[in-house]
Amino acid sequence: MTAPHTVTPLHLGGRTALVTGAASGIGRACALRLAAAGAKVRAVDRDATGLEALAGAAPATAGSVEPHVLDLTDLDAAEDLAAGTDILVNNAGLQLVRPIEEFPPEVFHTVLTVMLEAPFRLIRGALPHMYAQGWGRVVNVSSVHGLRASAYKSAYVAAKHGLEGLSKTAALEGAPHGVTSNCVNPGYVRTPLVEAQIADQAEAHGIPPERVVTDVLLKDSALKRLVEPEEVAEAVAYLCSPPASFITGTSLVLDGGWTAH
Ligand SMILES: NC(=O)c1ccc[n+]([C@@H]2O[C@H](COP(=O)([O-])OP(=O)(O)OC[C@H]3O[C@@H](n4cnc5c(N)ncnc54)[C@H](O)[C@@H]3O)[C@@H](O)[C@H]2O)c1
Repeated sequence: MTAPHTVTPLHLGGRTALVTGAASGIGRACALRLAAAGAKVRAVDRDATGLEALAGAAPATAGSVEPHVLDLTDLDAAEDLAAGTDILVNNAGLQLVRPIEEFPPEVFHTVLTVMLEAPFRLIRGALPHMYAQGWGRVVNVSSVHGLRASAYKSAYVAAKHGLEGLSKTAALEGAPHGVTSNCVNPGYVRTPLVEAQIADQAEAHGIPPERVVTDVLLKDSALKRLVEPEEVAEAVAYLCSPPASFITGTSLVLDGGWTAH
């Protein structure tokens, strides 16, 4: 007789996780999800107020949330902070929507620093401990824009495509040491980052803001709704779970069918 199928809940007790961009949106949801599974979460963001609010919302009975106010352009500090983590969620990001010929070079540089170079330095800081114990999980919050381009998002698309390559390289190097590395690729998520770009997009495309969600953001999505941050956090949690231990070097796409075209 076959044994009845059992579902193992995610237990991260005794694990330390670091989540960047944890003061808002997807990062906040990830920090809360991993803490709910028992992890001790280092919540990293430059937004002290948002981190304080996150710490207040953390579950009292499971893991814990430890706020770390840090601007990730301080790459040395980022690398130091990642030492000793078992789970690393590279999530912090920013967006500017502007044609290339008008795109400020200094913003391009900052986007690449926060969204590509900081993840490299955080992975670099985290790997020695992960390798020493033979277990580690790197989850990079990429985007559909890690796989597809959109006009006016040169820095963001370049950073996310770079993050996909970094993630795959970490997967190849980490495999003999029990470390997996993957991307999670959402379509448009209901977060402040998206809300902030609606006005920008309206101007860039010359349409009223109320048409941006349907005509621009969800134009290529088969499912006509925004994804919730908690849905993305659930995908991140799954990649940290035992049944996902054979998944590495790939991208888990939550795009409502966008890339099915
Ligand atoms: N919202 C979406 O539709 C969407 C879709 C696909 C991918 N993503 C990705 O998800 C991630 C999170 O996005 P979100 O929508 O939750 O955004 P958000 O704006 O709600 O949160 C981003 C967080 O990153 C932090 N951050 C930015 N620059 C920083 C820096 N220099 N140092 C420290 N912290 C910094 C911000 O303070 C903020 O708390 C990003 O990488 C984004 O590209 C978002």
